[in-house]
Amino acid sequence: MAKFDNSFTDELRQRLSLVDVISRRIPLVKKGQNYWGCCPFHNEKTPSFSVSEDKGFYHCFGCGEHGDIISFTMKSENVDFKTAISELADMAGVKMPEIKQKTPEQKQAEENYVKITESATQIYQDLLYTDAGKTALDYIKKRGFSDEMIKKYRIGYAPKNNIISSKFSNVKQDKLIATGLVRIGNYGLYDFFRDKLMFPIFNAHGQIVAFSGRSLDGSEPKYINTTDTELFHKRQTIFGFNFARDAIHKQNRSIVVEGQIDAIQMQNHGFPETVAPLGTALTEDHIALLCKSNRNIIFCFDGDNAGQKAAIRACTLVLPFLRDNSDVRFAFVSGGKDPDEILKSSGESAMKKIIDNSVSLIDFLWDSINKNYLTNTPNGRAQADKFLKECISKISDKIFQNEIEQEYNNRKFNQWHKWKKQKYVSEIELPDIDSMTENVIKSIVQTYPEIAEKYLDFLSSLNISFDEKSPKSDLDFENAEKFIVSVKLQRHIQKLNQEKQKILSDALNNQNSGAENLKEIDEKIKQAQEKLELLLDMNNK
Ligand code: UTP
Ligand code: MN
Repeated sequence: MAKFDNSFTDELRQRLSLVDVISRRIPLVKKGQNYWGCCPFHNEKTPSFSVSEDKGFYHCFGCGEHGDIISFTMKSENVDFKTAISELADMAGVKMPEIKQKTPEQKQAEENYVKITESATQIYQDLLYTDAGKTALDYIKKRGFSDEMIKKYRIGYAPKNNIISSKFSNVKQDKLIATGLVRIGNYGLYDFFRDKLMFPIFNAHGQIVAFSGRSLDGSEPKYINTTDTELFHKRQTIFGFNFARDAIHKQNRSIVVEGQIDAIQMQNHGFPETVAPLGTALTEDHIALLCKSNRNIIFCFDGDNAGQKAAIRACTLVLPFLRDNSDVRFAFVSGGKDPDEILKSSGESAMKKIIDNSVSLIDFLWDSINKNYLTNTPNGRAQADKFLKECISKISDKIFQNEIEQEYNNRKFNQWHKWKKQKYVSEIELPDIDSMTENVIKSIVQTYPEIAEKYLDFLSSLNISFDEKSPKSDLDFENAEKFIVSVKLQRHIQKLNQEKQKILSDALNNQNSGAENLKEIDEKIKQAQEKLELLLDMNNK
């Protein structure tokens, strides 16, 4: 059988969550670190089928079946390897590659590549502690980096001359060029990074695949990064991930900041679970990578407009990955500072406060649409609503999607339509509704915003506060609506009866017969009662 390039199956494993894939077939419930369900491979009533997202494996303690995302698809759908891969590729939205195995030449090329980047790193590291690197070393020390940090992150200095081109003169040109460290010009090879403070970029396995170089003389651009190579794809690489991975497990969350120095400083000052994208806005691949290791993410952005925009972008990217057990939050650093500067000027506790004050994705999204659209106008509300609906539709977990939709419906109802709290003014005052009925109504309002919307005026007249949360109604939609209508009719009848009483007592006092009005009211009461009977009768069917 033809084999797929390992990197493609790796990509599928990376892009797809095992729990997502298995949940499509059997319901899973999270207990402790793992998910549990009834084994699809043997008959059982109590769950002994465990799924570990972290490890990427499932295991049945009942029948011993175990495997990964690919074997699960093959087994549960009774398809061959190739079909399983193609289905998973579809699910992940990636193209099936040509069937190919890594050739020995490719493997060799990768080995060469890593050998070169590894020794280049060593060269840069050594240079940092020479005269040539003095400015760079002073600079990085001034930025608060200790020698241990410099060593751990393997920070170095790329000198002004073409050091790589000359030190690797015995290596074939194209091998050097393949690493992005040198380029070819009219006069031969030259180094891409010159006079830069060098930050190696590690892949998930801890190999150095690229570099980010910071200018030291104030020249622009401030940072240059290796352009994409066979082994480095900027849009799929997260800076600091190799260092943060264990901490992300331990802390059960990751923090995403905007810059690499921010990430390093965070990692070394109380937030080892911090990472940063690399000189690009966040991409779906970044999020997929993070979500795969943990779905609790705190995005930390600048508090300005650009930061808000970046946060919205992160929000829309993360929505498809959301599940009912994920906690995605947004933290904003104000005052034009970044986390590095906060840590330096105000310390860990100030940063902790910022992180602790982060808002949930649900709140953030709600706040942003209310900021970005004129929700006190019908047009603005419609635009905001469209955006919100689009966002909600991105959530792939259907049950969770429903819950979120409900939550926003409630907010729309309570906040956009400015729930009328003032007492309804009427000449005839009815006593407040009894508390049992009140509770049923509250639940209905919480559960079915459409009903609330439809009977807004009536509900507003009841002098009930709908602010606090109520339990879900156990009535279905139809019966819930009938319940509201029946209360409405009962109140109507009650009111007519009071009017009738009034006319009668007026008649007694004033010797005024009022017979005409009385007839009319009696007629109305009769009609309302018939309607009510019809409704209740239908209810019994
Ligand atoms: P910032 O401009 O916020 O820089 O860019 P910074 O991280 O605060 O850098 P310092 O503290 O001045 O050293 C955020 C990130 O965007 C990328 C880098 O990854 C940087 O960390 N960037 C920025 C570039 O790739 N190129 C640039 O020219 C600037
Ligand atoms: Mn900075």
